[in-house]
Parts: sequence; C-alpha cells; structure tokens
Amino acid sequence: MGQAPATRAPFISLEGGEGSGKSTQIRYLNDSLQALGKPVLTTREPGGAPGAEEIRALLVQGAPGRWDGLTETLLHFAARRDHLVKTVNPARMAGRWVVSDRFADSTMAYQGFGQKLGPEIITRLYDLVVGADGPDLTLVLDLPVEIGLRRAVGRGGVEDRYERMGRDFHERLRQAYLAIAKAAPERCVIVDASGSETAIASQILAIVTDRLLS
Ligand SMILES: Nc1ncnc2c1ncn2[C@@H]1O[C@H](COP(=O)(O)OP(=O)(O)OP(=O)(O)O)[C@@H](O)[C@H]1O
Ligand SMILES: [Mg+2]
Repeated sequence: MGQAPATRAPFISLEGGEGSGKSTQIRYLNDSLQALGKPVLTTREPGGAPGAEEIRALLVQGAPGRWDGLTETLLHFAARRDHLVKTVNPARMAGRWVVSDRFADSTMAYQGFGQKLGPEIITRLYDLVVGADGPDLTLVLDLPVEIGLRRAVGRGGVEDRYERMGRDFHERLRQAYLAIAKAAPERCVIVDASGSETAIASQILAIVTDRLLS
C-alpha cells in the first residue's frame, strides 16, 4: 500500500550520576538542534509520560531502602515502557528528535551495579521492554562523585532518594557508567563533565553532529 517507509527520527539519551549536568546540557542541546531546524522533544526518566511520572514519584522520593532491588528495577522498566509507548516512539515516528534525560543505562548503573542486582536481569528486561527502540546515541557525563553530589545538593527539592544512597553506591555508579560506555562504543560517548557548561555543550554538539548529522 502507499505507506511511507518507516524512518524514525534520532533518539539521544544523556546519562551520568547525580549532578553531572544532564538537565543543564539537555537545554543546550535542545536549543542547538532547534537552531539547526530540527524538531525536538526533550523528555526524562523515570517519567516522560503521565503514567510514568506517577511511577517516578515512587522511585525518587522516600527512604533509600523502600524497595528491594528487583522491585525497583521492575518499577523503572514499567515506567520506561509507558514512556516509550506514549512519548518516545510516537514522537520519533512523527519526525521529532527525542532527547531524554536518562534512559535504560541508568537502570543498569543504579540497580544493576549501585544496588548490586547484577547485569543479567537488567539485560533480559531491556530486551523484553525496549528491544530495538533504544537510543541511537548516549552521552555519558563523567564527573568525580563528590563534585556531582555537591552540585546536586545545590539543586534542592524532594527528589533526593538516590542522592541519599551512600558514597560507595555513587562510586559503583560512576564505574558502571564508564564500563557500559566502553562496552558499547558504537552507541556511547563519554564526556568529561568537569568543564564549563558551554565547553561541555559544544563538545556534545560536535559529537551529535559527527554521529547523527554527517
Ligand atoms: N559544567 C558545570 N559546571 C558547574 N556547575 C554546573 C555545570 N553544569 C551544571 N551545573 C550546576 O550543577 C547543578 C546540577 O546540574 P544538573 O541539574 O544539570 O545535573 P543533573 O545531572 O541533571 O543532576 P540530577 O542527576 O540531580 O538531575 C545545577 O545547579 C547546575 O546549575
Ligand atoms: Mg537533572
């Protein structure tokens, strides 16, 4: 029949520990892509769709130990499924670039390694829930733990459940992100997040241009 070929607009995720600059850099990237005439949808995880945002509250607020690792992982993947089905996939099919503040690498880093659930369960759930609908490009913002936590405290608010997990947790997280990125170089690029906001933004734009616009 006369259906157009199913081309999807690119999907980019930003990853990294607490206070590494993800939300800040998403704003810069959004502006740069818009300036290039690309329609963009910025979104976030956990959340990014009405149902997923309700699940978000269960995850980012309250006592650090309120869930066992598997329950927490299932909540993240339930939210992710809703986010993909309701927000990410429809936007891409409509030709909008999607830029997400966190995606599944956060679950691998936080639950798989931070909370020590291990990588196998996360990989199985990823295959089931995300399959081929994951990001084309992932920017991993890397920063020493103490600098990130100091920055995150400045951000304030009630969404501090993960911030309040121990120092060891955040060190495992940082190492996990670096390992995830090194194991998937076709998708991931590690970005040194210790520079100025604008210097990091131009690095990110150069990577996006190289990987997705050339
Ligand atoms: N390159 C930078 N240098 C110094 N401060 C920065 C830089 N980038 C962001 N900040 C500041 O650090 C704080 C955390 O940044 P941001 O909210 O972007 O991080 P995040 O990765 O989204 O954090 P979270 O994981 O807590 O959501 C903010 O107050 C922000 O203004
Ligand atoms: Mg943020």
